[in-house]
Amino acid sequence: MTHAYPDSPVFYRKLAHDYPKIVRGEGCWLIDERGKRYLDAVGGAYVANVGHSNPEIAEAIAQQAREFGYLSGTMFTHGPVEELAAELAETLPGDLSKLYFLCSGSEAVEAALKLARQYWVERGKPSKQRIIALGPGYHGSTLLALSASAREAYKAMFRPWLVDVHRIPASYPYRCECGGKNAGCPVCSGAVLEEAITRLGAENVAAFIAEPVGGSSTGGSTPRPEYFKLVREICDRHDVLFVADEVLVGVGRTGTWWAIEPYGVAPDIMTFGKGVSGGYAALSGIAVPARIVDAIAEGSGNFMHAQTFSHHPVACAAGVATMRYLKEHRLVERCARMGRVLHERLRPLADLPHVGDVRGRGLLAGIEFVDDKASRAPLPRSAKFAEKFAEAALDAGLTVWPNVGHADGTNGDLVMVAPPFIIEEHEIDEIVSRLTVALETTLKGLTADVRST
Ligand SMILES: Cc1ncc(COP(=O)(O)O)c(C=O)c1O
Repeated sequence: MTHAYPDSPVFYRKLAHDYPKIVRGEGCWLIDERGKRYLDAVGGAYVANVGHSNPEIAEAIAQQAREFGYLSGTMFTHGPVEELAAELAETLPGDLSKLYFLCSGSEAVEAALKLARQYWVERGKPSKQRIIALGPGYHGSTLLALSASAREAYKAMFRPWLVDVHRIPASYPYRCECGGKNAGCPVCSGAVLEEAITRLGAENVAAFIAEPVGGSSTGGSTPRPEYFKLVREICDRHDVLFVADEVLVGVGRTGTWWAIEPYGVAPDIMTFGKGVSGGYAALSGIAVPARIVDAIAEGSGNFMHAQTFSHHPVACAAGVATMRYLKEHRLVERCARMGRVLHERLRPLADLPHVGDVRGRGLLAGIEFVDDKASRAPLPRSAKFAEKFAEAALDAGLTVWPNVGHADGTNGDLVMVAPPFIIEEHEIDEIVSRLTVALETTLKGLTADVRST
């Protein structure tokens, strides 16, 4: 029995793929119906931060479902949402203190950008409606989040429905002429943001959205240490809200609760998702300061973003259990510690053919592949290197996340690893050895005729 289109009633994500059917998870591992074991080196999609089949989280979810499964967040409040807000608030930077819960990262980004717009309308500045975002960058697949994303291939057919988001180049040291070393570089310092705001007119700009550490789009690139300080100053100077998208890099992934922390500044609005429930429920949200919520409380009185499943009791119970597990087991500290081990063990991969760069922070690492290591020229898109690498890794029993297009909008191949925070050193070694096998397999398939097309 295959698990492939059209043999099953499932409308699969990839229609030319025969899916392994997973029947069990054990910590960092997934086991399929044939007994094959996969080391889940990317936690599915940067999600399973506390590992699979955690009995404490499973029990918390079951307990909540036994009490009540659903109630509407517009009518009632409940224990899990109050507790989750308190657990998260303890960790948040700056004056972020109020939490609104949703189900996916895309919804969190939609809500964050709509809140920025509503804030300015309620404050009597309705001309502030433009959004500035980075390229490369990804913020989700719903229409406003997609508009903010720099994924041309995802956007092309929906162009008539998308909002015009102004794009500035992302800090991406490996692909910047200065290599991220020039403090005066307008891109690597963040000064390009001021040019963009001036060009659009500050009176028209509502928000700037950015990932504090690059996710898939720039393969774990970390901007220079002063980058977000300048971003913060520019946003303050021009009355522009700074939205930090921590959907992928937040909740400990880079070795601090929030990836923005080492930059010593706080955003006006923060999004989170993915790891906040360890993947045990669909949960995301936004964190905001009272000064922003006050604008609505003193104005219309309602945030104009209603969703049936916002503040969901069972999802919030999964979030509470995950946050408590992270805290009790000091897993964010462990992520920082094991992240250092991961980067040390991954470093030798940079000497292998076609590996251009290995980078990241905490348990987030990107491995970028190139055609030519000296010139950093990307492989031709027709080679589908990243996709083939991910397939070879899966064959070798390893999950990784591929990304393409970051070099010039079309070309560019990288894969990411982001293992659960409970990963052990011997499992990190296993990741490295399976990555090496996947690279050998992929290189064998990189035939001269494919490369010449
Ligand atoms: C930075 C960032 N923001 C938003 C999203 C969208 O999240 P979701 O896929 O849960 O809608 C993603 C997803 O990968 C992301 O990486």
